Amino acid sequence: MKLLVTGGAGFIGSHFINHRLANHSQDSIINLDNLTYAASLVNLQQVMESPRYKFIKGDISSMALIEEVMQGVDVVVHFAAETHVDRSILDPWPFIQSNIVGTYTLLEVAKKMKVKRFHHISTDEVFGSLELQSNEKFNENTLYSPRSPYSATKAGSDHLVRAYYHTYGLPVTISNCSNNFGPAMYPEKLIPLAITSALENKKIPIHGDGKNERDWLFVEDHISAIELILEEGKIGETYLVGGLKNGVSNVDIVKKILKILKKDEDLIKFVDDRPGNDRKYDIDWSKINKQLGWEPKYNLDKALELTIEWYKKNVDWWKKIKEGEFKEYYEKQFGKSDL
Ligand code: NAD
Ligand code: TYD
Repeated sequence: MKLLVTGGAGFIGSHFINHRLANHSQDSIINLDNLTYAASLVNLQQVMESPRYKFIKGDISSMALIEEVMQGVDVVVHFAAETHVDRSILDPWPFIQSNIVGTYTLLEVAKKMKVKRFHHISTDEVFGSLELQSNEKFNENTLYSPRSPYSATKAGSDHLVRAYYHTYGLPVTISNCSNNFGPAMYPEKLIPLAITSALENKKIPIHGDGKNERDWLFVEDHISAIELILEEGKIGETYLVGGLKNGVSNVDIVKKILKILKKDEDLIKFVDDRPGNDRKYDIDWSKINKQLGWEPKYNLDKALELTIEWYKKNVDWWKKIKEGEFKEYYEKQFGKSDL
């Protein structure tokens, strides 16, 4: 099977490519990625020389390029996106361009080329925010209510994917997952930022009161869900994918990280809240569990330890990032004094 993976040089896409090539000896993969600040080809070192792997640097919103790249492709797995909420608040435009125009471009070509499957990776953030005290969880029937430029553009892309299924019969599947974490995640997101800052004995910024909750999902569990959807998912269906433990606040997560690293909690620094910061996400993943037999395997504490271990062993990887473009962004976001 020939797969086109978009955004494969990013965090989740690179885990998917490494896993897929290692476990499916008949598959070949084209990785199309325009190498934004968030990309890292280092994560793909183990497949770089494989005759079953090809990297193409390019933008998903370039129609002519996509027409060329999608020739003979059976399955598209679409990860490419601008992904960081804080950056979408500073400047929504790249999110509109990549997440909406880019997804439209891929769909249009996939329709023309009659690909056998278009799997779209999306987020639980399209559903908006839950109340902290509520027992409600997002499920496949929850109405969309995105509240940040990032989630609004992901919602737009989900709607387009469904429109191509209903209107043109494109064989699509969609997964909306919760916050991923794991090795090689760009250190702008909460968990890798906390780990790398703690390792450097630098302050860890926590938005608002730190009581916001996310449904944390270890990246390997996300990959196993995507694999299962590709194998057994029903065309036109959406599957929600979430983690094992809920009810853990941002400040609890950071305290867990500090405890594992044996660092003092005074590294925590409360900063102004993110505008429109969603209070809580929580996923009901019973549909994928009942229909496809998927469940997450990693408990939060174990997965955090594995992740921390990776960042301890790969200091060069994240130091290089933090000294580059990241520094400029971080100063814009939090001010110089916090560095
Ligand atoms: P990431 O930011 O680490 O990587 C995104 C990749 O897409 C980068 O390599 C980037 O260069 C590439 N890209 C961006 N715009 C592009 C364009 N126009 N053309 C070609 N390539 C482009 O993101 P991630 O965390 O790996 O997320 C992957 C997908 O999963 C995204 O669609 C995201 O919305 C979704 N998702 C992520 C999370 C999470 O916690 N990370 C949670 C839910 C859903
Ligand atoms: P993040 O990792 O950016 O993921 P998302 O916004 O996609 O859920 O943020 C997770 C939570 O952590 C969110 O409530 C914002 C908060 N947060 C901080 O408190 N400090 C930070 O430096 C960052 C990046 C996020």
